[in-house]
Amino acid sequence: MADSTTDRVTVGIDIGGSGIKGAPVDTATGDLTQERIRLVTPHPATPSAVADTVAELVRQIDHPGPLGVTLPAVVQHGVARTAANIDAGWVDADAAGLLSEATGRAVAVINDADAAGVAEVRFGAGRDVAGVVVMVTFGTGIGSAVFVDGRLVPNTELGHLHLHGGDAEDYAAASVREEEELSWKDWAHRVERYLQLLERLLWPDLIIVGGGVSKRAEKFLPLIETRTRVVPAEMHNDAGIAGAALFAPPD
Ligand code: BGC
Repeated sequence: MADSTTDRVTVGIDIGGSGIKGAPVDTATGDLTQERIRLVTPHPATPSAVADTVAELVRQIDHPGPLGVTLPAVVQHGVARTAANIDAGWVDADAAGLLSEATGRAVAVINDADAAGVAEVRFGAGRDVAGVVVMVTFGTGIGSAVFVDGRLVPNTELGHLHLHGGDAEDYAAASVREEEELSWKDWAHRVERYLQLLERLLWPDLIIVGGGVSKRAEKFLPLIETRTRVVPAEMHNDAGIAGAALFAPPD
């Protein structure tokens, strides 16, 4: 008979532009049950090179069972559809099939911001919040996840809304702050414009700001004025891994 303690622990893997990170996750609490392992994302990050790295990561994590994996792309039923910040070879690639073949495991693949949002809504800053919750992740690009009473509307891609004459993520992503050497104040102004655009379109009850930069929320959130309540993510770097694990298919 299956051991329920083992059953509820599944492996989550978060594929990003610079690192591929993973760990077993207690899906009842969102806690990582082992320290996460990070391997460097291969360059170019073609589907086959990434699949090889994921297979190596799974060997190192050494926990049995199915996998939930994130990709920074639209993912419909396991198939990647876009590649804004990853290798163009991912467009229309059967990501779940490829990773399953490379690892010998059952695999589900979902958008990275959707995974992080699911973790925050289940275990973090959005738990028990009714109504419309929007999670935005600021990193290399801008990712989004939209929830209605805790239920995800997948693949919303709100980082590509039109703002300041172009793609919002080219104006307000965390990477832009570094590349353009913007002060926290100047970057906060851009984030404010972006969040105000979101609220004009969606009228959320809560906005959760995630991504690595959420660890430094005190530097920019106090400078931002919105009518919506805006809170930093609570799970930081672990959100993608924890959310991914929740999507692992039944074994
Ligand atoms: C991609 C999204 C992704 C986000 C964060 C965007 O450029 O289009 O799919 O969630 O970056 O990685």
